[in-house]
This record gives sequence, structure tokens and C-alpha cells, in this order.
Amino acid sequence: MEAKQGKNWGGLWTKVKLEVVDRYLDAYTKVMKNKGFKIWYIDGFAGDGQSPDDMVGSPLLALKYNRINKFVFIDKNRNNIESLKHTVHKKFSNKLCIIEFIKGDANEHIPKILSTWKKNRDRGIIFLDPFGLEISWETIKAIANTEAVDLWLLTVGSSFMLRLLSRDYKRNSQAIIKTLERYLGVSEEYIKKYFYVRQPQLPISMKKPDNYNQNRTELIRARLDQYSFIRKFVHLIQEQISNLFPITIPPLVLYDKTSGQYKFMLHFFCANNNSKRAQVIASDIAKYITHLMESKYPDVCFVLKI
Ligand SMILES: C[S@@+](CC[C@H](N)C(=O)[O-])C[C@H]1O[C@@H](n2cnc3c(N)ncnc32)[C@H](O)[C@@H]1O
Repeated sequence: MEAKQGKNWGGLWTKVKLEVVDRYLDAYTKVMKNKGFKIWYIDGFAGDGQSPDDMVGSPLLALKYNRINKFVFIDKNRNNIESLKHTVHKKFSNKLCIIEFIKGDANEHIPKILSTWKKNRDRGIIFLDPFGLEISWETIKAIANTEAVDLWLLTVGSSFMLRLLSRDYKRNSQAIIKTLERYLGVSEEYIKKYFYVRQPQLPISMKKPDNYNQNRTELIRARLDQYSFIRKFVHLIQEQISNLFPITIPPLVLYDKTSGQYKFMLHFFCANNNSKRAQVIASDIAKYITHLMESKYPDVCFVLKI
């Protein structure tokens, strides 16, 4: 289930998401210097090396960092992985021996790769940047189980969910429910109760951006209230994830000012269970970056108040 395919995907929020990952890689590779670990960068939804508006895609951003010892680029689309290979051959031929290109499903390959890791040897960053609901919860679990990964995960935003889920449970197709079960790691029964029966008071509010069109914002608020399961959706993701990762921070909401749609949420999770200090450093850096983005790009993103 995908939000949008092809070269026209993306917008200003794509720039923000890539800048977040770039800044985190910069800080991470400095902090991990001389720690004696093998440092990985795994890009589960690597793309073709280019982003819309001819921005450099995430694999090429990561390749700038010389302290990374191993790169894995996975993409399901053969043309994308071939085109990525081509660009990398041209621009980073000196690094080819430490790069693995995989044409396939991230949900199949990431757990396999992580099963070869050793606790006292391997550390890394994983970036999961799908169009829609392509990630399986089992993949997130495998990542958390390493206790050695910092994860940047893009999840769909409320506008996607508004289009996806019907207000009337019976009108949702089985395929949609199955996809959500896999994406959120909960059962059909749970989805039904959670979104359609239970009415928990959630401590999540959508911040109204200061310079945002009043009428449009009100419209969105009305829709959000009408479909209260949207707020539940954000809460459920955070709840599910905090069961797996010791450190989570409030996600960065990426939105499209023109259409007034909450497009995506960018989450950060630190799986390091062994060192409290490492957890604090990682989350402080991630929080610093997300707040910096909020002040640098107020028209495109904000940190969700939880
Ligand atoms: C938003 S794009 C990634 C953009 C990339 N991170 C960048 O910065 O340029 C999503 C990519 O995921 C790929 N994809 C979709 N489903 C996938 C899956 N199950 N496993 C791996 N790749 C997948 C698509 O072919 C597409 O290239």
C-alpha cells in the first residue's frame, strides 16, 4: 500500500527528512569515533540515489561519511537499485568494496542482515523511508532486538490514514485491515476495539503552526476531531514503539502547507539497551535536530507535542 510513486513524490518535507538524517549521521559518526565498533548504515528503502528536485537521495548522503564501515542499500524496484548502483559507481567507486546493493524487500533482508551482527562488534543507523505502509512490524522488532541500532523511521501521517480508514469499520476492506495488522503489529480485534470502540483520552495534540492558514487549520482540526482515530493512530505507534525501544522522542510531523495535509511523521528510536549514557546522547542529538528543523522550516514541519 503506497502513498505515491514515481519522480513526482516528495515536496519540501523530503528536504527536511533528508537533512535530519544527514545531520544525525554527521553527529553519530563523530560520537562513535574511536569506539572500536564496526559502523553500519542500512537504508531499507534506498530509492535510486536521487530525490525530487534533483536533491541527493539518502544513500548518497550517507556515503559522504568516511567513518561508516559498511553500507547496505535495499530497494524492491530493480530500476531504482540499478540506477543507484550506476550513480555510486560514478561518484563513490572507492567505496564499492564496503557497499552491498540488494534488490528486494527490506522486511526480508534487514532481519537477515541483523542476525549476523555481534553485540560487542556492530553498531549502526537504519533509515526506513517508505512511501506508505510497506514496513512490517516484525522488521521493527528485529531492529529493536539488536540493542545496537539508532533508527529513523518514517510513518504515514494523518491525511493518509484519513483516506485509508473508513469511519464505519464494516466498510474497511480485509486487505486494509491485514496491512494495518502487519504495519502496527496488532491484531484485527485490537484494531477494531482500539480505533472504533475504546475512547481513551490521549495526551496528544496537534500544534497549530503560527503562520498557518486559519481556515484550513480549522478544517483539518474538524476532520481530526471527526475522525478521532487519527490521534489514536499516532498514540498507538508511539505506544507500540515504546514497548520495544528504551528511547523514543516526540516525532517530527511533516506537512504540506498548500494542501493542508499532515503527510508523514519522522520518528527516532534508539535501541541501545546497554548504555544509559549512549541513550541520552542519542536522544539529545535527535531532539536537537528535530527542534532545529521546526525553527528552520516552520512552514513544513513541527515537533508533535505528546
Ligand atoms: C520514498 S522512496 C525512498 C527515497 C530515498 N530514501 C531517498 O532519499 O531518495 C521509497 C522507496 O522504497 C522502495 N520500496 C517500496 N517497497 C519496498 C520494500 N518492501 N522493500 C524495499 N524497498 C521498497 C521504492 O521502490 C522506493 O524506491
